[in-house]
Order: sequence, then C-alpha cells, then structure tokens
Amino acid sequence: MWFSLETIVSRAKRRGFAYPWSDIYGGLANARDLGPYGTEIKRNIENNRRKYFIQEREDIIWLDSQILMNPKVWEASGHVAWFNEPLIDCKKCKSRYRADHIIEDYQKKSEDKEFPKNWAAEKTPPEDILEYITNKKIKCAKCGTVDWTEPKKFNGMFKTEQWVIEGEWTDIYLRPETAQGIFVNFKNILDTTRMRIPFGIGQIGKAFRNEITPGNFMFRVREFYQMEIEYFVENNEEVGLQAFEEWKAMSKKRWIEEIGIKEDKLKFRDHDKDELSFYSKGTCDVEYAFPRGRGELQGIAYRTDYDLKQHIQFSGKDLQYNDPYTGKRYVPHVIEPSRGLTRAILTAMIDAYDEETYKDGNGNDASRVVARFHKNIAPVKFAVMPLVKKDEKMVAMAKDIFKTLSKNYMCEFDDSGNIGKSYRRQDEIGTPYCITVDHQSIEDSTVTIRERDSMEQKRVKADELESFMN
Ligand code: GAP
Repeated sequence: MWFSLETIVSRAKRRGFAYPWSDIYGGLANARDLGPYGTEIKRNIENNRRKYFIQEREDIIWLDSQILMNPKVWEASGHVAWFNEPLIDCKKCKSRYRADHIIEDYQKKSEDKEFPKNWAAEKTPPEDILEYITNKKIKCAKCGTVDWTEPKKFNGMFKTEQWVIEGEWTDIYLRPETAQGIFVNFKNILDTTRMRIPFGIGQIGKAFRNEITPGNFMFRVREFYQMEIEYFVENNEEVGLQAFEEWKAMSKKRWIEEIGIKEDKLKFRDHDKDELSFYSKGTCDVEYAFPRGRGELQGIAYRTDYDLKQHIQFSGKDLQYNDPYTGKRYVPHVIEPSRGLTRAILTAMIDAYDEETYKDGNGNDASRVVARFHKNIAPVKFAVMPLVKKDEKMVAMAKDIFKTLSKNYMCEFDDSGNIGKSYRRQDEIGTPYCITVDHQSIEDSTVTIRERDSMEQKRVKADELESFMN
C-alpha cells in the first residue's frame, strides 16, 4: 500500500520518532531531531552494522575521526574546489534548486539519457547547465514554468573560524563526509594494526552540508549521519572491479537482512560511463522508492587510487602500502560503500509503515496503524503490561519481567490498564511483542504474548520470553 510522506511525518512526530528542529521556535528548514524511538532505531542500525562489518569480519576495522579537520584535507579531496554546487532560481516564483539535482531527477524520470556537455555536476560550466535545462524544457516543480536564471556556484560546506593566535583566525570546515577522516588515517592504521590488503576501515558519524533544496522530511538535511567504509584492495583494475561487484551484492543483502527493507522497493542503478567521475571505474547508486519518487540511500564507488594519491600530493607524505608477501610497494585502490544513516532511519520508518483493517475479538471491523519493523530495528522489543493496574501482585510480576528482559532488550512498562489501547500504541511504535500479566500468571508463572503482525496470542512460561527474540 502507498502512504504519503505527510502521513509518515505526522506519525513520526506524534509517536516520538522525529521532531522538527527547534520546534518551539517554529523549527528550521531541512532539520529534524530524533525522538526516543528514532534514536533507538539509529542505535539498532549502528549496532547491526558494527556486528556484521566489524565484529564478525577480520578484514574491517573502524575509527572515529574529528568533524573539524585541517582545511588542507578539503583542498586535497577536491571539496573546496568542487563542492561548489550550481544553484538555479525559477524567475517566476523565485524557488531555488540545485541544478544538478534537477538534472538528475529528470534523468531518472525520463527515457532521455543524454546529459549536459562535459557532465560532472560540480564542473559543468553554468551556461551549459542552463542550455540543457532550457532545451529539455525542465519545469519548476513548484509553478511549472520553464524560465531559469543562470546557475550560480555556492559552496556546500559549512565554514567556521578557528582562533589561531589573538586576533587571528583561520577558516575551517565542518566535514561534508566522513570518508576523508579514513584516508588521512590510512598510514596510522597501517602502522598500528596488523591489517593487510585487502582490508577496510569504517566510520559512522555526523556530516554537514549547507543543502539548499527542500528537505523532504529527513531525506536531505543539513546535519546527518553517514556510515562509510573505505575498502582497500590491490592496485589492479580486475581485482578492484571484482571487489566492487562483491560490495554491491553484499550491500543488497544487508539492506534486506539488516534493516528489513522490502526488496522490490530497492533498485541498484549503475552509473553510465558518461556519469562517472574521471577517476572512477564504477559507481552504483542504491535507490529506494520513496513516496515522492526514487531517492539515493547509498553510493558504492570504485574510486581507484584517486583519494590516497591526492593526499600524497597535498601532504607530501608517503601513503604507499608495503606488501609483506611480495615486497611490492603501491598505492592501493579503494571501493567506497557510503551509506546515509539518517536516510536509513527514514527508509526504515517508511518501509515499515502500514495501516490495516481486521475483525476484533467480537467480530467487529477494526483498524490499526502498525509499524512492521524488522525485529533488529524495532525501537522497543517487548512491552510488559499488568492486566489490572491496581493489582499489586500483577504489577510486581510485570515489573520483575521488565527488569529481566530489559537487561538485554529495550522494553517498555505500561500499567495504563487499558490493554487494547496499549496494543494500538505499541503497534504504531512497532513493538514485536506485548506481554500481559493476568490472574493466571500469578498462579502458574505463565503470561500471554501477543505478536505484532499476526496479533496472535499465546500463553507461555514467563522465563521463556527471551527466546522469542532469537
Ligand atoms: N563519501 C561519499 C559521499 O559522501 P554522497 O553520495 O555525497 O557520497 C553518501 O553521500 C550518502 O550520504 C548518500 O547516499 C545519502 O544516503 C547520504 N547523504 C548525503 N547527503 C545527505 C543529506 N543532505 N541528508 C541526508 N543524507 C545525506
């Protein structure tokens, strides 16, 4: 079933998944705070990633680098020169867009696969962009007019100042991606660990971009989380391409198994040759069918030795790898699976959302909203409730169960005494299991457990509850 983004946004606020930023001051465009349940989804996605890619793999390690880095990093990476986004205004309604986004959206929706001359969003001359948008009669999404200003470059990095000595300041940037923190630590990792090529370095953290186009809720925000891995391989194209294909296959599996995303909503779109950066030997966008159209969740790029060579040139440091088996010295190639964590949270919320009608216990028509989160991702795993809120024995037993389960799982204790209402609330939060302590529980230490999706209820021993999460 299709649900509008507005439905998801209003549920997100009502149920404590995400709030508009600085809400009491009227909010701020393109920004959201995660509420208690959004925060828990984030933590679950991070934990799954840590377990699968770090704990269970001997060839990947991770680090946590700083948000503020030496400004030279961004010169070497090309962000200072290239992070100049082309902005374009509709002359009629004055709406402002990123010209490259308009072109990319047009490309996705049309059969027409021709790009502007010398297409590389950050480098295409403004007049070529304007000519293309005008020739293709691309309309303003707001007012439908085709009358555009010439694109103007705008630096998408947030700049701040660092105090050097009294009265002297230098410009520094908030990182626009986490990846560069990995490249600049490549040598440190080689010198201090026993990692041997092929190996990866991962990082999860905040990135900042001065985004200008409207946010679509949490899709495009100015402050967001990324989960990036740089996977270093031999400097050999055949090896690199094989690793690139392996990362694509692995990423698909992870979106489905780790976050529980529906496979038919995912699309792996390989870039055409003329879309690739000059150094890239392959790039694939992982896209999801959002309510307002397809959008990118992750980029997987075979970036060859471009990034390390840039840092060698700008830092003057030797970042070559010394192969202990062959004695060869070389600059490794890299595959970069770069996933947006903020977008993953949004996608999990959209993908799980459902509304259904059913017959209640009395055979009457009833309806409910249910978030069918994968158990891994669900913010709360068990809700524990005494049937009668004034019954001291029931309350005490429910509290004991909560105490035991909450050692390993996020649980909620709900003693409102209105079981039907509590079920509805937990369905919306996406809690896989609701446990009710009733009169019989006091007699024989059993409880009822209700499963979220089927709404089936079973009577089970209270000390067997954890097995439901296996
Ligand atoms: N190091 C490569 C890199 O940063 P990117 O395609 O610019 O590549 C990677 O970003 C991912 O980060 C995207 O696929 C997206 O999920 C996420 N992302 C990028 N900009 C974002 C924004 N403004 N808001 C939320 N997520 C964003």
